[in-house]
Amino acid sequence: MKNEVIYLTKTGHSKKIAEAVAAALGVQAKDIKTKPALEQVDTLFIVGGIYGGASDPAMLEYAAGLKGDTVKRAALLCSSAGGKTGQGKLRQLLKDNGVEVCEEEYICRGNFLVVGLGHPNKEEIAGAAAFAKKIAGAP
Ligand SMILES: Cc1cc2nc3c(=O)[nH]c(=O)nc-3n(C[C@H](O)[C@H](O)[C@H](O)COP(=O)(O)O)c2cc1C
Repeated sequence: MKNEVIYLTKTGHSKKIAEAVAAALGVQAKDIKTKPALEQVDTLFIVGGIYGGASDPAMLEYAAGLKGDTVKRAALLCSSAGGKTGQGKLRQLLKDNGVEVCEEEYICRGNFLVVGLGHPNKEEIAGAAAFAKKIAGAP
């Protein structure tokens, strides 16, 4: 089963989370800003921050190019200062493209100005890796 991990970050949290997830799965995390070309992925882990209540437009633009014949399934992880997801649009866009999206999403706290200082912490990042292993069915 082929796993891939991609991320979009503005302040580094999603990169940290994606790298922990990728290490747990034995792959390299890829930055969406480099427009990674994906081939036949079983599970694609997508990690992104929430800005103004939503995913970054570049994340949505990249995801719009992902189709169900290349990416069978996606699992979403997000980081947000408020500890809530804002990836509804991303989820819908993937589904509309024929990509199955895992119901469960890993939501990691981030920080913005004074909100969420100290997050994401070690335990939260380890939790992201554990979530990914569970979804991937890794031992
Ligand atoms: C410009 C900007 C806007 C943000 N807007 C929100 C928001 O609407 N809701 C929220 O919960 N967090 C918001 N945050 C906090 C980020 O979602 C959080 O810090 C996240 O971990 C950032 O991920 P990143 O470091 O991968 O970019 C915002 C952060 C920035 C920089």
